Amino acid sequence: MNSEVEKLKEIIRLDSDLQNTQDLDVLLEKILYEARSFVNADAGTIYLKRNEELVFNYTQNDTLQKKLPKGEKLIYSTFSYPISKKSISGYVAVTKESLNLPDVYKIPGNAPYSFNPEPDRQCNYRSKSMLTIPLITNIGAVLGVLQVINAKDDEGKVIPFKSEDELLIRHFASNATMALQRAQLTRQLLLRMISMAELRDPKETGQHVNRVGSYAIEIYERWAQRRKMPARELHRNRDILRMVAMLHDVGKVAISDMILKKPGRLTDEEFEIMKTHTYCGARLFRSLQSEYDAIASEVVLTHHENWDGSGYPGDVDLETGKPKEKTLNGRARPKRGEEIPIYGRVVALADVYDALTHKRVYKEAWKEKDVLAQIRKDSGKKFDPELVDIFFEALPHLKNITAKYPDPNNSE
Ligand code: C2E
Ligand code: SIN
Ligand code: SIN
Ligand code: FE
Ligand code: FE
Repeated sequence: MNSEVEKLKEIIRLDSDLQNTQDLDVLLEKILYEARSFVNADAGTIYLKRNEELVFNYTQNDTLQKKLPKGEKLIYSTFSYPISKKSISGYVAVTKESLNLPDVYKIPGNAPYSFNPEPDRQCNYRSKSMLTIPLITNIGAVLGVLQVINAKDDEGKVIPFKSEDELLIRHFASNATMALQRAQLTRQLLLRMISMAELRDPKETGQHVNRVGSYAIEIYERWAQRRKMPARELHRNRDILRMVAMLHDVGKVAISDMILKKPGRLTDEEFEIMKTHTYCGARLFRSLQSEYDAIASEVVLTHHENWDGSGYPGDVDLETGKPKEKTLNGRARPKRGEEIPIYGRVVALADVYDALTHKRVYKEAWKEKDVLAQIRKDSGKKFDPELVDIFFEALPHLKNITAKYPDPNNSE
């Protein structure tokens, strides 16, 4: 019962399994195990991209495993290859093409890549057939490389990987890549959250970011429904926006407490420093490995842009904070209107609504009627006028959210 149709069915079943696995390590293990099972491979490795390197992340090897006492786990050292065409995995990462080699010790001399026999030597193993495929995200970035080693026939003899195997694994890999991205993001988010919590007053952060996230999706959903966005797409976008909106101010970790916690008004100079929390925060997501990273970067960068072009930071380079183009006054070209991404426009409104309704170290909470008057006044100036309309439509829901996430020490 090993027909290709059966295998395809299996891939579809596995997809939902993968999507339901949250932890990165558990997921890597599962992906490699299933990939090897499809093509009856003795061993395999997953490399993940980190900066400009491929880091050997996870490996399995049945032959070596069998030599170990029961219950023991393979010990393997982590190492990395630079992403260049010289190694097999590097070649695959650079070209984004899979490589199906019948015998890695018999690579033609004119090939740009070569096999590194060192790991084999260290563990007394003989790699022969090797199928290496890139893990490519939906925005075309390379997440890593999946490598299966030594396909076996029914008698356990090592044979080359078939071209059908290649197709199956490629299909499987695209599902696996999505699951991996999510698990990586979840982990990264948690780590970022933890480091933020250590840096900042925990009383202030949690509830504010929860409210902003919830306001944002409430407003966005209505905007999307006006555009008849398909349910699946909306569901996904809300999911992303909820997490990403929470992170809108992560760039404040770069601002000193002297400024951040100053009880009074900021001087012009201090405010200039405060403004850097936009592009400094956006830099944290610059790897743009996932759709989440791309949108997070967008939101963090643009959440203080104004509809009429009077916001900040404008069209700046993330790395330097300097204007991307030369302008007459030396300031960055302002962003305005729909040039500001929808997620940024939504979060801008959600953030200000929350800041005005709540107490800050530098100001008291405003009365509700003053908040609403301010938001109406800023329609078409600070805010997208359509979003302000939606805001008023959604107001009862927004107030409900406010009640759900109260500040611990705040009299509203
Ligand atoms: P935040 O406290 O989260 O405020 C976010 C945004 O809400 C502000 O962006 C502003 O658009 C709006 N907002 C907050 N409070 C008021 C207010 O009393 N009146 C009006 N009209 N709008 C208000 P903005 O101005 O770009 O400020 C960004 C961040 O800079 C603020 O985030 C806060 O962390 C800091 N900040 C701004 N002004 C002051 C200040 O006078 N003193 C201190 N210590 N920090 C300030
Ligand atoms: C690789 O380059 O893909 C790893 C295989 C090796 O050369 O050991
Ligand atoms: C390992 O380092 O355990 C993997 C060795 C191999 O499969 O070549
Ligand atoms: Fe901000
Ligand atoms: Fe904020």
